[in-house]
This record gives sequence, structure tokens and C-alpha cells, in this order.
Amino acid sequence: MAEILERSKGAVETSEAQIAVHWREEEYYYPPAKFVGQANLTDPSVIERFSEKNFPECFREYADLLSWDQYWHTTLDTSDPPFWKWFVGGKINASYNCVDRHLAKYKNKAALIFVPEPESEAPVSVTYRELYVRVNEFAALLRDFCGLKSGDRVTIHMPMVPELPVTMLACARLGVIHSVVFGGFSGEACGMRAADSGSRVLITMDGYYRNGKMIDHKAGADIALEIAKKEGQAVDKVLVWRRHLGKNASASPFVKERDFFVDEILPNYSGEIVPPVPMDAEAPLFLMYTSGSTGKPKGCQHRTGGYLSYVAGTSKYIQDIHPEDVYWCMADIGWITGHSYIVYGPLALAATSVLYEGVPTYPDAGRVWRIAERLDVNIFHTSPTAIRMLRKSGHDEPAKYNYHFKHMTTVGEPIEPEVWRWYHDVVGKGEAVIVDTWWQTENGGFLCSTKPALDPMKPGSAGPGMPGIYPLIMDENNEPVTAGSGKAGNICIRNPWPGIMQTIWGDRDRFVTQYYSKYCKNRSSKDWHDWPYFAADGAVLAVDGYFRILGRVDDVINVAGHRLGTKEIESACLTVSEVAEAAVVPVVDEIKGRVPEVYIALQPGLQASQAIVDKVNKAIETMIGKIARPRRVLIVPDMPKTRSGKLMRRVLAALSNNMNTGDITTLANPDVVEKVREMVQGKEAVALADGPEDLKKFGTEE
Ligand code: WTA
Repeated sequence: MAEILERSKGAVETSEAQIAVHWREEEYYYPPAKFVGQANLTDPSVIERFSEKNFPECFREYADLLSWDQYWHTTLDTSDPPFWKWFVGGKINASYNCVDRHLAKYKNKAALIFVPEPESEAPVSVTYRELYVRVNEFAALLRDFCGLKSGDRVTIHMPMVPELPVTMLACARLGVIHSVVFGGFSGEACGMRAADSGSRVLITMDGYYRNGKMIDHKAGADIALEIAKKEGQAVDKVLVWRRHLGKNASASPFVKERDFFVDEILPNYSGEIVPPVPMDAEAPLFLMYTSGSTGKPKGCQHRTGGYLSYVAGTSKYIQDIHPEDVYWCMADIGWITGHSYIVYGPLALAATSVLYEGVPTYPDAGRVWRIAERLDVNIFHTSPTAIRMLRKSGHDEPAKYNYHFKHMTTVGEPIEPEVWRWYHDVVGKGEAVIVDTWWQTENGGFLCSTKPALDPMKPGSAGPGMPGIYPLIMDENNEPVTAGSGKAGNICIRNPWPGIMQTIWGDRDRFVTQYYSKYCKNRSSKDWHDWPYFAADGAVLAVDGYFRILGRVDDVINVAGHRLGTKEIESACLTVSEVAEAAVVPVVDEIKGRVPEVYIALQPGLQASQAIVDKVNKAIETMIGKIARPRRVLIVPDMPKTRSGKLMRRVLAALSNNMNTGDITTLANPDVVEKVREMVQGKEAVALADGPEDLKKFGTEE
């Protein structure tokens, strides 16, 4: 595997983002008075309080939402840029803050409401008291049965069930660093991540419901262990939660002394109380692996105090969560959105957080709205892909159900103004405020968004920087792009903030190169002003200070809001022995935003065949998961290349999207472009569309 990853490493590509963008300015929508009347954040002085002259102390406001075991002495330590330290000297436990401290007031209130996919199974409420009991018992098991202690890493590969937050909070109670791998990722992908994090315990589940079927999930654990072992990491214990007690949904063999059903050992820890370990504010809370510009996913390492402060603050003021609300975020906990805005943020505020196991359109397009009606959800949080899907499959469904949202969120991808308006008018019934929150796995929490009771909404634009976040757009010449110029550039954040990741697990250099090298003018400076954070997203800034996010400027494809690295998919293709070269490009998709398309060149002398296409598809599914399945696998006679032999992904992306290929006369093999075009588009020339901005730039610097 390592060798394959090596082969797939290309030049690090960045954007050529200096292009004029023209779009219609959208009209403002104003927050409904009813929302404003009850909102957590209505005081406009927040702008002043979080302005640069009050930085970094302004973030005390967020940290003060939490219960600290020991108050910190230094809010921000910049002595080792860009490895910022937040709330230094403070001690805190995340599990205590999300569970124990709510018992006095809210012990009988639902912390989690689990909605199983089959409608025949009733929703299950877990009160704060019950959550407290379960977290303690499971923490006792992790400590005494698995021998885990603070600083150890544990990989968690689980679906959307209440046992997942219980597991995370039990780890946090002990100071064990959890690394949750999205349940839809394959066993291979899980194994690579388990190895990188150095986990010797894997926590999984036998199965779960998806689209009406029970999925055998534990089978992935066996593969994960094999892969981890090959990578040099021994995993000696597998804890298996069961979806239905007493039944086993997995056909995979149970390995004695290694695999354990949680429900069989948990009774040994019945009623145990594990004191929450006071952790340094800077102690890592969790790792979250994400895709970047190389074949190897990076483990974003998030700190305890800063992260928890940031998600609590943004959940309170931007998600407008009150303890009385029923809050439903439809993301998967296996992604950062689920960590920050299903588990840590809402629970830190004593919210009721809804967890749905399955597919939003199962068994029909009314499911989501039935759940909202039944549970009386009033805050709803989802992605543009889900909104597009629900709009397509049931345009008029929401009106049939008696639910009322006060607040809705969209996150993860740019949302088309048309789709935004459907969300507002039909889903929100014109009664709900909307926030379009822009941020990334690396960031911990929101970076750009409107303040729901204070700023008007503008369809398609995320909004201004959040309180205490100072974004700007930079061009390729290291110059800021002025507001209202209509020029796109790279969005950066000028300052550190408490939610920013600490580093890439085990790879400090990559952290610096990836996010800071591009715009840091003085590497020896200890002044944070010299270290803007490069987000790898293209954006435009309007005169009103609203940022419109255009999409990734690197090799990341955002498929249905899931972040996939083109290099990771290419690495998977290269595991097929017939494949000599692979190039993966994004293609516009009406529902998912983008989907990958794969170009393959075969080893000399081999003929294209369906069997090879099938092998490539299979390899992608096995190495990454079904979410990375390409639209097509195209076996081409040759790849378009520059004279120096660089593969021109930009040309392939243009062909896949019926866009103008630009000047190809300087290529080493321009004639191959026409051959490939015919394969992709058919013999008849296709009308050339202008295409979205991020695709125009895709792979420009190769
Ligand atoms: C994209 C998800 C437009 C962006 C929280 C970013 C968005 C990537 C928005 C991060 C938004 C996220 N509008 N694009 N509101 N939010 N993105 O790490 O390209 O899974 O870089 O984090 O999603 O994806 P990630």
C-alpha cells in the first residue's frame, strides 16, 4: 500500500484563482421576528466584542460556557507558530461538560433521541441520567477490561446509533483519544486509519439498517485488523455492540479472545462510576481523518478545551440551541459535522439531539418530515445534497406534515440559490431562519455564517466571518482581493481560533506545509498576523462582506458533502495490476454536487475490457467505500500530457464536464484529446458549457 501511495503522489496542486466571476446578486431575506424574539444572540455589540482589538480574549465568552476543573492562565500562546495553544493552564473534561453537569437540572430530559430506520421500531429516548449511567459503565469497561488510559487512541467504526456517542463520551471521560471512522468507509479504509493512529482497540457494531436492509458491518472489522497488521499495528481487542440484543447481525467469524460482544461484558461494570479525568486544555480530544492532496488521509488532531469552547459557543449563538429545543442534525457522526454539531456542541448545552439511523428517503420521500412532526423538531441541520434529494423526490411533501422549524442549517457544499429558496419556502414554510455555515474538518466549527437574528440571509452565500474569525481572500501573488471586485481567490483566515486543529497526527511538517506555507511571509515570526490559514477553497467577497464559497482548489472532490481525495481514488485504481496510470476528475451532478469520474491507461499490450472496468470499480469500493463509486471508468488509449510528461487532469475534467479544454496545442500528444473526447462525449461535438469556477481551475498547475 505504501508503495502505491508513493506512486500516486503528484505535484502539489494549488489554484490559479484569479478569474472574474459573474453572478446575479441575490436579494436579502430577513430573520422572522418570532425567531429574533427568542434568539440567544441579539446584541449587535458582539461584533465589537469579537473585533480584532479584543482578540484573543474575546474567546473567553465561549470558554465561559463550560465548566472548568481549573481556569486557564493564558488565553492564546503563540510561541510556536503555527502550533497555537488555547486556554493554557486550564483543565477540563469533555464528558463531564456534556453529561454530568446537566444532571442537576435536566436529568430526566432526553439527551439523545434515536430514530431507527424501520418505522416499526419506535424512537428511543436516552435521558441525561441514562446517558450518564451508560457512559460511566462503558468507561469502566474501557479502563478495566481494555486497559485504556488517557493519551491512548481507539478507533471507532460505527453506524448512527446512540452507542456511538456513548462510546465517544466514555473515551473522553478517560482522556482516551477517539478516532471515529465513518461507518460507510470500507474495512480497508478503517484499517489504514487504525494503523496511523496506533489504536490497539477497535470498537464496532454487528450491523445496522440502511435502505431497508440489515448491513453486516462487523465483517469490515476483520479486514481492518488485517490491514492494520500489515501496516505494523496490532489491534488486539474488538468490541462489538449489537443492534439487537441477543442476535448477531454479522456472519463474520467471531475470533475468541479478540472479539467481544459489549452486552456480554458490560454487566460486569453495572452501576460503576468513573471519575472524569481533568485533562489539560491542550490534550487531544479526538482525531478525525480527512482527505487532502495526497493519497494518505490525514488525522486532524483536535484539542479538548479550545475545541469544546468553540463548538459550545457556535452551537449556542449560530445554531441557536436552547435546552428546550429539539435539535436534529442529519449528518453522520462519522464526519466532523456530527462530532461538533450532533455530539459535543449540542450536548455541552444540554440540548436534545436527534440521531437518525438510516436513509432520509426511506421508505418514502415523507420520512424526514414525519420524524420532524413526531418528535416536534424545531432546529434542523442538513446538507445541500440532502436538500436537493428531498426536493427532487418530494417537492411538495413538507406541506403535508405538521412540523415547524425555527432554524435551519445548510453545510458542506455550496447551495444553489434555487435550492436555497425551496429550503426556505417549502421546508421552512417561510417561518425559519437559515444559516449557511462554511467550515472544514480542520476547523472544529463554523468559520463563515450569518448571525441568525442579526444578519440578513443571502441565498448561495455563507455570509461574513464568524465572531472572532477574520477571513480574507488572497490571490496567487499574495495580494488580498478587494470586496466587490468580483474576483475569485483563495479564502484564508488571518487569525488563530480555538477550534482550529492542533496538528496532523504524527506529521507536524505536513500541517505547516498544507495550511500555512502558502501565505506565510516570515517563517520565523512569532506574530500570528504573519500566519494566515490557507483553507484550499475558492471564494468571492461581495461589498456587503458576505463570502460566497466556490469549492475546493486542490485535489479534493466534495461528493454529496463527503470529502474524497482524487489521489486516494487514484491509489485504489493503481492496485489493479492492469492499470498503468489513473486520473480522477470531478463531474457535476445534479443531486450530489460532484461525483468522481475515472480515466485509466492500461499497461502496454493490454486490451480494454469490461472485466478491467469491474476490477477498478471493485478496488475503489474495497479500498475506500461505496461513497467513492465513480460515475464511469473510462479506459483511454493514452492520457493527455505536457511535454515534461505531466498528466493533464484539467483537460480530462473539461472533457467530462463538456467544458472548453482551453489551449491544448502545447501538449505532447494533442491528438489524443480528440480520441478521448469521442469516448467521453460521443462522436457528435457537444455544445461547450461555461462550467463552474472550481472545475475551470481543476489541476491547473500540473
Ligand atoms: C465545503 C465539512 C460551500 C468546502 C464541514 C470545504 C462548503 C469542505 C460549505 C470541507 C458551505 C463546507 N458552502 N462549501 N457552507 N461548508 N464546504 O472537511 O469546500 O468534510 O473545504 O467539512 O466542504 O469539508 P469537510
